[in-house]
Amino acid sequence: MPTWLVTGGAGFIGGNFVLEAVRLGVRVVNLDALTYAGNLQTLASLEGNPDHVFVHGDIGDRALVSRLLTEHRPDAVLNFAAESHVDRSIDGPAAFIDTNVVGTLGLLEAVRDHWKQLDGDAKAAFRFLHVSTDEVYGTLGETGKFTETTPYAPNSPYSASKAASDHLVRAFHHTYGLPTLTTNCSNNYGPYHFPEKLIPLVIAKALAGEPLPVYGDGQQVRDWLFVTDHCEAIRTVLEKGRVGETYNVGGDSERRNLEVVETICRLLDARRPREDGQPRSSQITFVADRPGHDRRYAIDASKLQTELGWKPRHTFETGIAETVDWYLDNQDWVRGILDGSYRLERIGTAV
Ligand SMILES: NC(=O)c1ccc[n+]([C@@H]2O[C@H](COP(=O)([O-])OP(=O)(O)OC[C@H]3O[C@@H](n4cnc5c(N)ncnc54)[C@H](O)[C@@H]3O)[C@@H](O)[C@H]2O)c1
Repeated sequence: MPTWLVTGGAGFIGGNFVLEAVRLGVRVVNLDALTYAGNLQTLASLEGNPDHVFVHGDIGDRALVSRLLTEHRPDAVLNFAAESHVDRSIDGPAAFIDTNVVGTLGLLEAVRDHWKQLDGDAKAAFRFLHVSTDEVYGTLGETGKFTETTPYAPNSPYSASKAASDHLVRAFHHTYGLPTLTTNCSNNYGPYHFPEKLIPLVIAKALAGEPLPVYGDGQQVRDWLFVTDHCEAIRTVLEKGRVGETYNVGGDSERRNLEVVETICRLLDARRPREDGQPRSSQITFVADRPGHDRRYAIDASKLQTELGWKPRHTFETGIAETVDWYLDNQDWVRGILDGSYRLERIGTAV
């Protein structure tokens, strides 16, 4: 039974990843600082399961990470932990540098020191996989896609901090020989997504009868990937990826933000019509754009598809329907968040 040290496993993607990994027979040590984005409710089904060890702590805590590595001797470390919301990075970039840059450096140092003293097969098989974003590449015009050789050009404090962490991972491979892998993925959606991000935010506000805020003209394009397809891509890269390489992960599902919001409205209208019979698209309200808002992201994932044989199982249409159904069936999970400090308010306007 392999053991993986997963960081950020109480968040959206990390949580989905941990649930699947344990189901697939992996023993997971889950290190998470439980920031506002971390939610143990996501992991409730693992309570009492000996194959899941939750540790409340910071990736930058070298002593803690070293202790976990010595105690559990994981076959791999997968780094999901991050500050992840662009709007929050506009209001307060420092936390993004603390976790995504300084925290990742601490984690890398502890992992490097542990890996150095492994021997034989354990040393050869060990992997450090860093989960990153396509936002490090900046923005695209109407055409073209990001490949693994697109120059980095991050535009938000969030993407700048992720770019810095990617560079540190690269440097730890080239300088110390640490066996690293990096994945750069497009926008994810699906179950357990914190309701400050577009898709769960729109579902929550649509159901509450509130205005549905669309930034700017709503014509920004994102390449959407269902979260479990991302998790499968990460497992594929971990198993078959070439050490030191980076792999783009994308769903070939480019959609304009306005289209995404309209699709959610249609799905909700069909499943749970408004009492007054009006379509939920009537709740759409255009609001001031995000400062520095990237216009278009699109991922060329052909390296991952042809070299490692991964492809997404969901189209945008099947994935978004599954997501809407999940939120309708799991209102308690959403209420748990909305009862706390988060209130669906607008942030990140830089005014
Ligand atoms: N959400 C996306 O669309 C997307 C796309 C591509 C890549 N990514 C990357 O995937 C990773 C996970 O994203 P997500 O959307 O699940 O994020 P998230 O914000 O939902 O979860 C992040 C988790 O990390 C934890 N965390 C934060 N700081 C920590 C620290 N210092 N030490 C330990 N734990 C800490 C939080 O408590 C939370 O559980 C991030 O690295 C993000 O950059 C996200």
